[in-house]
Amino acid sequence: MNHFLDLWPLASGELRSILDNAKSRKAARKGLPKGTVDKDAPLSGRTLAMIFEKNSTRTRVSFDMAIRQLGGTSLVLNSGDTQLGRGETVEDTAKVLSRYVDAIMIRANRHADVEALAQFASVPVINGLTEKSHPCQILADLQTLEEAGLTLKGSRIAWVGDGNNVAASFIHAAPKFGFSLSVASPAGYDPDPKDVERARAEQGRIDLFRDPKQAVAGADVIVADTFVSMGDKDADKRLGDLAPFKVSGDLMRAANGGAKFLHCLPAHRGEEVDADVIDGPQSLVFDEAENRLHAQKAILEWCLRG
Ligand code: CP
Ligand code: NVA
Repeated sequence: MNHFLDLWPLASGELRSILDNAKSRKAARKGLPKGTVDKDAPLSGRTLAMIFEKNSTRTRVSFDMAIRQLGGTSLVLNSGDTQLGRGETVEDTAKVLSRYVDAIMIRANRHADVEALAQFASVPVINGLTEKSHPCQILADLQTLEEAGLTLKGSRIAWVGDGNNVAASFIHAAPKFGFSLSVASPAGYDPDPKDVERARAEQGRIDLFRDPKQAVAGADVIVADTFVSMGDKDADKRLGDLAPFKVSGDLMRAANGGAKFLHCLPAHRGEEVDADVIDGPQSLVFDEAENRLHAQKAILEWCLRG
């Protein structure tokens, strides 16, 4: 069963073929209305159920359009409207949904629930963000960087801010794609040491910093994310602790000339990034958002066609 819960279990070659498929599908349908189905309609007759325990704009709309462009259909389940929201078990939900649909995408509060869903489902399960990781996002990010001309192998990506779920998926991706990752975060906001250890064991280069300027020295890309993620309760403390990690024009200039800026969105201008950076010429954020669609088409195809 091809679940897509995290990048770890996928071989580099498999991830490469997903990225290449995303790019070639994107190129093949250039200029078509967004609702037009791809010529080969590879997922014709397939239905994707999407479960949301947290808010979403990009993940929800890009997955919905992705399955439609592949010839399939979708249904969106806000978990609060389902029996899951009233305490029905993940196990029973997995078994029941598997009788109706061909794949399940879930955005969940607890990563362990996504693992349980995959364990008990007889159809592929895709992680659409948990508190621990956001693997779909990272494939879109890497596609965006390659399309902007960056060779991932040997490049240096700097993550600045909270060592959160999105940072974790960058750490997972580093050994798979051969880029080095510098993470700048304040004490108490470090990435999960288990992720760092595993990436290093797989020959990934991960460097941890407290000083954002040091982390971005020599970087080809700077990545930021919100200082307050969905489910975080200590918003005021976080905004205070993370304030020195804002990506400003000054910080961009401390990286390599022409360094690219990424942010998974939603963004908070003036908090984690200044407007002149995210809305400036080095920013790729809207290509990045678009590529959620293309990357997820390739993920869906990998899950459902093997
Ligand atoms: N980047 C991202 O996952 O956005 P949404 O929360 O809008 O889905
Ligand atoms: N780290 C953010 C990402 C949102 C797409 C969050 O979890 O809320």
